[in-house]
Amino acid sequence: MTPPADLQADFVWWKHGVIYQVYPRSFQDSNGDGVGDIEGIIARLDYLVALGVDAMWISPIFRSPMKDFGYDISDHTAIDPIFGDLAAFDWMVRQAHARGLKVILDFVPNHTSDRHLWFLESRSNRTNPRRDWYIWRDPAPDGGPPNNWRSEFGGPAWTFDSHTGQYYYHAFLASQPDLNWRHPHVGQAMLDTLRSWLDRGVDGFRVDAIHHLFEDETFADNPPNPIWREGMSPAEQLLRTRTVDQAEVHGAVASMRRVTDAYDDNPVLIGEAYLPLERLMAYYGGAGEGFHLPFNFHLMTTPWRPQEIAALIEAYESQLPAHGWPNWVLGNHDRSRLASRVGRSQSRVAAMLLLTLRGTPTLYQGDELGMVDVPIPPDRVRDPLELNMPGLGLGRDPVRTPMPWSGEPYAGFSSTEPWLPLNPDWRDMNVARQIDDPASILSLNRALLRLRRSEPCLTRGDYRAHTVTDQLFAFERALGEDRIVIALNLGDSLQSFEAPRGLILLSTDPDRKAGSEPIAALRPNEGLIVRPR
Ligand code: GLC
Repeated sequence: MTPPADLQADFVWWKHGVIYQVYPRSFQDSNGDGVGDIEGIIARLDYLVALGVDAMWISPIFRSPMKDFGYDISDHTAIDPIFGDLAAFDWMVRQAHARGLKVILDFVPNHTSDRHLWFLESRSNRTNPRRDWYIWRDPAPDGGPPNNWRSEFGGPAWTFDSHTGQYYYHAFLASQPDLNWRHPHVGQAMLDTLRSWLDRGVDGFRVDAIHHLFEDETFADNPPNPIWREGMSPAEQLLRTRTVDQAEVHGAVASMRRVTDAYDDNPVLIGEAYLPLERLMAYYGGAGEGFHLPFNFHLMTTPWRPQEIAALIEAYESQLPAHGWPNWVLGNHDRSRLASRVGRSQSRVAAMLLLTLRGTPTLYQGDELGMVDVPIPPDRVRDPLELNMPGLGLGRDPVRTPMPWSGEPYAGFSSTEPWLPLNPDWRDMNVARQIDDPASILSLNRALLRLRRSEPCLTRGDYRAHTVTDQLFAFERALGEDRIVIALNLGDSLQSFEAPRGLILLSTDPDRKAGSEPIAALRPNEGLIVRPR
């Protein structure tokens, strides 16, 4: 797991490393309740090491009523019993570190569960000292909500509390009231939770929904969204000009960063913000005092075509601040799976792109197997997004189904029926089947990760576009004298491409032999990595 010495010297781990997102409910169940847990993660650490990733980011495992599956936290420093306890957590961190794996936790600063002690106090009466830890407003003159703001999960973003006669604000579910970060004690209390996990040895945080942290202080309405049409999420009927990406957020991020910076071994701070590039860049902080890695989700939304992808990379690279290190994401627990978006054949090409681009890649659990969105029968829907707004295709259950580990009962994930259905093809499409098959996408991902680890040019090299046609996208990475060319055929027909004479390091096509034969064309859906002579 140890990177070459020259990389260690001037290059912190989160720049050369690859992050793997574990969705804990669906990774590995150890106690037969159909839901994954910490012991399960421990049992699969060797898999992650063999895969070749450097860090795991674990979606929330804190105490929670699970209305939003852990993103509704009722105690930030306790482990939910469904996942285990603090002793199991500490053991997991130790076991991960013993294998050279970093551990990144989710940090959810925008809201808590409505079962959190802070909110129970806040709603108990208007004069409670914690009243203003959340966002309370009087009703509008007609008794309705204070303004037109909408919840991301459907309906108004305000819920009336009859006991105290005011509305509280929630960007997400009514059971996820928003914290008021303008109250000085809120920031202090939340930063203390960061410290408590850092003291337990974690290596960083992925900060949830950061662009929602502040709302406009005047509480003015959000304007209508002119491009909204029937079939889109009702939340998008309005532009979120007053409810996301407010200026104060950057000060709060810097305060989180000051906390992590006070710890040894370079803990990483990663921010989740779905924003256009020009807004996203501000999350690095004007002088680098913001996130190390504001998640770059743009590959998930950009059409899978050479021109568009090349233009995205160009725009991203050129807008990065001088102190900003790039990063790329192809999937997560909120978005349609990669192989469903681009197709199984292209998901191999996409893996090659992700793992050869400049910047830290994040892989989502199961994408290394080519998992697709799993259809969920109506009686098994669990995601509140689908339950509240059915039929719009917003539900996230299809991308959160259990890892298929083997052909054993319940795919080796559990000894009982899992909380979400398995992929119907789990008997064939599972880790055990793929691990020894050199043609599998899992083997391809392992080979890519191995190559990335062994080639400083792929981690540190500059990015340069090479060739962009209707179907082909080629670029190179360059470090000193060293050059590596990556050529991707984004279509399903043969593409002529004069690869530079040199050594073929890897192809997505298992039949292509590594070596030095001259290349005049890429095969359908082929990606190729070549080191020119
Ligand atoms: C983030 C999480 C998502 C969650 C939401 C509310 O976007 O990724 O899963 O539902 O925040 O916490």
